[in-house]
Amino acid sequence: MSKFYNCGCYYSRNIFIKKYNTHFTYHDSQQFHQEYNKILPSLGCDTELKKTLLEQEINKEVDRRKNLESEAFCRKELLQKLYKPLDPSVYKLQDCYLDPKFKLLVNSCRNSTKKQISPFLDIISEEKQLYGFPIFAEEFCCLILKELDHYAESDLPKGKPNSMNKYGVLIDEIGFQENFSNVLRTKYLDPLSALLFPEWRGERLDSHKIFSVSYKMGQDLDLDYHYDNSEVTLNICLGKSFKGSELYFGDTKAVPIFDSSCVMVPHKVGYGIFHRGQQLHGALPLISGERHNLIIWLRSSSVRNKKCPMCNLKPALLVPSNGYGDGFTDSTVQVCNVL
Ligand SMILES: [Fe+2]
Ligand SMILES: [Zn+2]
Repeated sequence: MSKFYNCGCYYSRNIFIKKYNTHFTYHDSQQFHQEYNKILPSLGCDTELKKTLLEQEINKEVDRRKNLESEAFCRKELLQKLYKPLDPSVYKLQDCYLDPKFKLLVNSCRNSTKKQISPFLDIISEEKQLYGFPIFAEEFCCLILKELDHYAESDLPKGKPNSMNKYGVLIDEIGFQENFSNVLRTKYLDPLSALLFPEWRGERLDSHKIFSVSYKMGQDLDLDYHYDNSEVTLNICLGKSFKGSELYFGDTKAVPIFDSSCVMVPHKVGYGIFHRGQQLHGALPLISGERHNLIIWLRSSSVRNKKCPMCNLKPALLVPSNGYGDGFTDSTVQVCNVL
């Protein structure tokens, strides 16, 4: 396996503060005040006390990010020793877990045009390169949800899926990586991306981050407008039953939200929405019930090595303590070793 790296921008940029529905950049106090003092009152942060509390919250998030990798490393080791799966067969991607239409889609995508695979693919928006297809059989969705519930009910440690969702599971940490998510990426999603997103797939999708997200009353209800740290994202609904919570897609991040036209996409159990990571999107509030989705951020080092999708600069590489880091490799950029 190639060695993967992070970009240093993770510790200073895109720091999302829910209360103000804003992503901040934070290098130090002086930069923060120079950059934001004028706009903070319009966000509702209009007293010195509120500004101090905001700065504290940002610093807390930066500290959390700095500790994340070593915590994840320890947690993964502990889970490998102590976690007892409810159903070990779920951890291996089997043919019967996949929707027959999805298998036809992948089998026919090599040496084909988009038009030729159109019987198996929903083109939600050609302009936004937004696609949909059934991927998992409903029985598999139930099986994996039971497995995730089993882990959630255990008293073993759990990580947060990403910086915006509080509830969900980093499923590679409990054993899905080798025979499930690596296989899903290399055997199915990489060839499909080669046809649908050639400029984002680059040479190949060589790493990923995968997690479930959960929405229910008293927990996360919606997801603010954002882009992903991925070249291509697949977002699959696993159930259970719920109302509301539709996904909406605007433009890429070069286009301001007020100039964007939005496309709404309802969820269907077992159905995946395939989109560019830079496509801005969010989820409307859940009205009732419980929604769980499985999300895979697919990354191509040949694309992101040229420009980090989170800071739009050439990545400032940092060595991760383990795993895929954020999917950069050292082929084109010099490695620096500081945090
Ligand atoms: Fe997202
Ligand atoms: Zn970056």
